[in-house]
Parts: sequence; C-alpha cells; structure tokens
Amino acid sequence: MARKLTRPRLEAAGVACVLALLTSPRARRRHRFALQSASHMLRLPRASDYGAWHKLRTESRDFLQPWEPVWSAEEMTRNSFRKRIERVNLEFDAGSSIQLFIFQKDPERLIGGITIGLIRRGVAQMCMLGYWMGEQYAGKGHMFAALQLVIRYIFDELRLHRIEAACIPTNMRSASLLQKAGFRKEGYLHKYLRINGQWQDHQLFALIKEEDVRKGN
Ligand SMILES: CC(C)(COP(=O)(O)OP(=O)(O)OC[C@H]1O[C@@H](n2cnc3c(N)ncnc32)[C@H](O)[C@@H]1OP(=O)(O)O)[C@@H](O)C(=O)NCCC(=O)NCCS
Repeated sequence: MARKLTRPRLEAAGVACVLALLTSPRARRRHRFALQSASHMLRLPRASDYGAWHKLRTESRDFLQPWEPVWSAEEMTRNSFRKRIERVNLEFDAGSSIQLFIFQKDPERLIGGITIGLIRRGVAQMCMLGYWMGEQYAGKGHMFAALQLVIRYIFDELRLHRIEAACIPTNMRSASLLQKAGFRKEGYLHKYLRINGQWQDHQLFALIKEEDVRKGN
C-alpha cells in the first residue's frame, strides 16, 4: 500500500534532495571553482546571489542595455535567475561555457560578470568572451583585472589556443579594454549579433596563446 505523503515526510525528502545535490562530485566541483587574485574573486553564480545581482543589474540597466540583447519581461525574476543557474551549471559540467560573477574583495561585493563562452575543442581550441560591469564600478580597472585572471586560466588550465571577443564599433570602452589586454583587431563582422533589438555590425578581436605577453605558455 502507498504511504501517505505527510508534510514531515515531504520535508525530509526535500532535505535529502538538497544534501544529495551538495554532496554530488559535480556540485562540489562547481562550488569549489574560483579564480582569485589579492583584489578579486570570480566564481559561478549561486541562488544566494539573486538579491545582489538584481540590484546591480537594475541600477545599471540604462548603462548596459545599449550593448546587450534586449532584456526579456522575465529577465529579472527569481525564477528566471534560478533557470539561468541551472543552465550555467549544465554548461560548466559539459565544458562548453563558464559564466562567472566578478566579486571585489574587502568588502566582498558583486560588481560584474564575465563569460568564457562557446568553448570549442578539436581543431579549433578557442572560446568567445562576453562581459559586463555594474555602472558604479565601471572605469576603475575591475574588468581589466578580471580579464587577467580569465586569460591566464584559459591558456594555462583550459589549454585553449585562441580567445575571441567582439564589440560594436562605437563601444570604445570595450575596444580599448581588449586592446589594453593585448587583443588584436582582426576583422569586421556584418550584422553579427542582435543587440538592443537590432542586428549590429561588430569588430572582432582575438588573442592567440603564443602572442600573449603574459607568457608562461
Ligand atoms: C566595457 C566594460 C566591461 C569595461 O569594464 P571596466 O571595468 O569599465 O573597464 P576597466 O576600468 O577595467 O578599464 C580597462 C580599460 O578599458 C578602457 N576604458 C574603460 N573605460 C573607458 C571609457 N569610459 N572610455 C574609453 N575607454 C575606457 C581603457 O582602455 C581602460 O584602461 P585605462 O583605464 O588604463 O585607460 C564596462 O565599461 C561595461 O560593462 N560597459 C557596458 C557594457 C558593455 O559594453 N559590455 C561589453 C559588450 S562587448
């Protein structure tokens, strides 16, 4: 005979599920993953980041929107954030993309994000970077610092050979950031991505492992 699902039984089952999730090797690996310097820490987003993420993105909306895909109506909901984390975790486990939140240390606070996306293996061994910074933290050297950690990780740990990034030609901040980090302008991509509601041309930048001045490769 089927046992009645009383509230205590359901709660016990829920606790068991959470414990199973936290103790799975994959969950532990995700939780441990971090890129760190004395001043910054980059890690995967967690459900507990929702409040800080919501505040930072909402306050920075006018600053970010011209350079990003249109935010959907559900973009900022907790449910959408939960689904985003599920997707981030799946992609991390599959090795196809690593979406990181950027934290400033002392005091620890969320300031932006950077994604090592479209990781291609085989004959390509490359990835595509995407990034954003909260408006109040922009222009203070934080993304440059985060890029140093990410570039080192991509070449030394992921052992990729090429890092690409693309930006709209009028995005001087992004273009200057990439050039300062050693990226070379490689080409022009017509109507490459749908940004802020329109298919927009982009400039393609790339950094090749053997040309990286940080070396150690
Ligand atoms: C582009 C962006 C991620 C740069 O991050 P950031 O933390 O502001 O960049 P940093 O402070 O680390 O600056 C690094 C370099 O970027 C360039 N830069 C930063 N702010 C700039 C500005 N207002 N004008 C021109 N260049 C600028 C400079 O080369 C700078 O180096 P410098 O300070 O030695 O001159 C951030 O400004 C942002 O999120 N912008 C809006 C969204 C966006 O453009 N996303 C990228 C889409 S491709």
